[in-house]
Amino acid sequence: MLKLITFPRVSLASQLRGIKIISRYYSIARNSKVYPEEISLDGKTYKTDEWTNVPPYILELTQRRLHHDNNHPIGILRELIEKNFKGMGYTFYNDFTPGVTTFQNFDVLGFPQDHPGRSKSDTYYLNKDNLLRTHTSAHEHECFQTCETPGYVISADVYRKDEIDRTHYPAFHQMEGARIWTKSDKLEEIIAHDIEQIPKTNIIVEDPFRENCFNEGNPKQDYMTDNEVYLVSVHLKKTIEYLVNQVFEAARKSAKLAGSTEPYLNEPLKIRWVEAYFPWTAPSWEIEVWWKGEWLECCGCGIVRQQVLLNSGLGEEKLGWAFGIGLDRIAMLLFGIPDIRLFWTLDERFGKQFSSGNINTFAPYSKYPGIKRDISFWLPKDVTLHNNEVMDIVRTHAGDLTESVENIDNFVHPKTGKRSQTYRLNYQSMDRNLTNSEINVLHNNVEQDLKKLFDVEIR
Ligand code: DAH
Repeated sequence: MLKLITFPRVSLASQLRGIKIISRYYSIARNSKVYPEEISLDGKTYKTDEWTNVPPYILELTQRRLHHDNNHPIGILRELIEKNFKGMGYTFYNDFTPGVTTFQNFDVLGFPQDHPGRSKSDTYYLNKDNLLRTHTSAHEHECFQTCETPGYVISADVYRKDEIDRTHYPAFHQMEGARIWTKSDKLEEIIAHDIEQIPKTNIIVEDPFRENCFNEGNPKQDYMTDNEVYLVSVHLKKTIEYLVNQVFEAARKSAKLAGSTEPYLNEPLKIRWVEAYFPWTAPSWEIEVWWKGEWLECCGCGIVRQQVLLNSGLGEEKLGWAFGIGLDRIAMLLFGIPDIRLFWTLDERFGKQFSSGNINTFAPYSKYPGIKRDISFWLPKDVTLHNNEVMDIVRTHAGDLTESVENIDNFVHPKTGKRSQTYRLNYQSMDRNLTNSEINVLHNNVEQDLKKLFDVEIR
């Protein structure tokens, strides 16, 4: 609460807009978390069930809407890309809220029932039929139905259960693009003309699949001719190359302005295309960008499967492409931000460094000291405990004060056969000093939950 009052750039109201948080959102019964009967999110109410697994600290993130903040690196990057796509026939959608159905996120895109992305260990479910979108592709169905321009660009926050470290966070941002044409006698001429309209770049392109754009392993769809696939794929790839060029040229400019003289800043930008697989596109590719001596995967794409278009009520004469690009890692490069968690800080020493339309290099500020606590316990005979489970409990109580959770010791008692584990918990705030007494309370809650959930015996 303190940090919200001290740093009012994101008001409490805007943080909590649209979600009803029950004070102790879930209680812990022996061996299972008990959720409230209902979760309200963005004006909708979801009845919880055995699929519900979204903790309160994740629900809170859904209200931050960083991509809307023009003074935040994520919002500045979104604006930069949109600015470069203005007037090219795309509608921009930035207001989709993150609660979607499993139909939107998976079924309509052709995800098989046993796809790992559907599992509770990968995805945050509100209940069996509703979840926090794991990608912006969840809105393709809706946009194909409603979009009145040839193409669209969606920006949004997405959620995946993930470990937390310097480059991973369970909430991040994606931008989805798509473009549709209608079959006619003139189709090939029209696409060729549209390709000409894409601004040229000086990028060095490595693409073994430019001419021969499909093969047995990465097949084309029967309803398209070879030349249609070729033309649509060239339009798609040139569009993404243009996007990547604009963004990385901006990154280069910003690094030079900040005084960097590293040699890579004077080399032409280099990208390569590799083959990929996505359930809703065929053929599919990924673009990788050569940046500071490594290949960065940055964007998946492909030619949309006809079934997806038909599912959205489009006719058999429609064809087109789609792509999805992650914004956070690119924003980290663009702004020189060393840790993805900084995007979520409310510290004004972060926020005041960025302003609409400007790409500047982040100036690090000193970290507040953290507080370290070890916790050791005996496990009951048949219980195994994973780092993620401990992480989940710690984050439930400490939220973003959780810096890291590490399993530092395991052993089996030679006489009793009992197993012992030790975890090291580092608590740290990005925006203030922590007090021992507040950490005592949180840490005690963690211990209590470990006892209740896993029956451990604290040593
Ligand atoms: N949704 C994909 C992901 O999150 C990215 C993506 C790949 C989007 C291919 C697309 C696409 O629209 O055609 O990894």
